[in-house]
Amino acid sequence: MTIVYNSKTGHTRQYAEMLAAAEKMKVYSVQEAQQVLPEKEPVIFLGWLMAGHISGIDQAVRRWDVRCAVGVGMAPDGKDNLATMAKANFVPNAPLFYLQGGWAPKKVGWFQRRAVGMVTRATRKQLQAKKDRTRQEEAYLSMLIRGGSFVEYQNLKPIQDWLAANG
Ligand SMILES: Cc1cc2nc3c(=O)[nH]c(=O)nc-3n(C[C@H](O)[C@H](O)[C@H](O)COP(=O)(O)O)c2cc1C
Repeated sequence: MTIVYNSKTGHTRQYAEMLAAAEKMKVYSVQEAQQVLPEKEPVIFLGWLMAGHISGIDQAVRRWDVRCAVGVGMAPDGKDNLATMAKANFVPNAPLFYLQGGWAPKKVGWFQRRAVGMVTRATRKQLQAKKDRTRQEEAYLSMLIRGGSFVEYQNLKPIQDWLAANG
């Protein structure tokens, strides 16, 4: 199995490269994979989340044999992400995983920055109004305002467990 990723601002690439190093697997960006990876090749696909959709997943499903699909977003991990992803992504016979990446406002265009700003406004206001913010809430609020990364090797554990059983 080969790892293929689609990353806009780097978080998904970081996860893909960490997973490849830990599992001794080959890793390619979508652009590279289109050049070197034969069609129907079994892959794990990681893509950044855009309005719940795993960017690049539809093309990947058409071209390769996607055995496992991973969405990387800014939201804290939680069941909601997976439920949204299950509705917004059609990946036949493959499990879906969610990983928290981060937010890099300087690396996206003004239009997308503004769109994300609008979507996260209510959460920002809610957290700002809260007096006793937990450390996690503080870090999340800071990420929403200034940008930041939650990429951590240990987040890959459920995917590594799946690989151990199905790889
Ligand atoms: C237009 C746009 C839409 C986004 N939609 C979501 C979303 O639905 N859920 C989420 O958790 N993150 C969302 N994000 C945040 C990105 O998925 C997040 O920053 C991710 O870490 C980007 O991965 P990358 O660094 O590999 O490009 C969105 C970002 C942009 C720019």
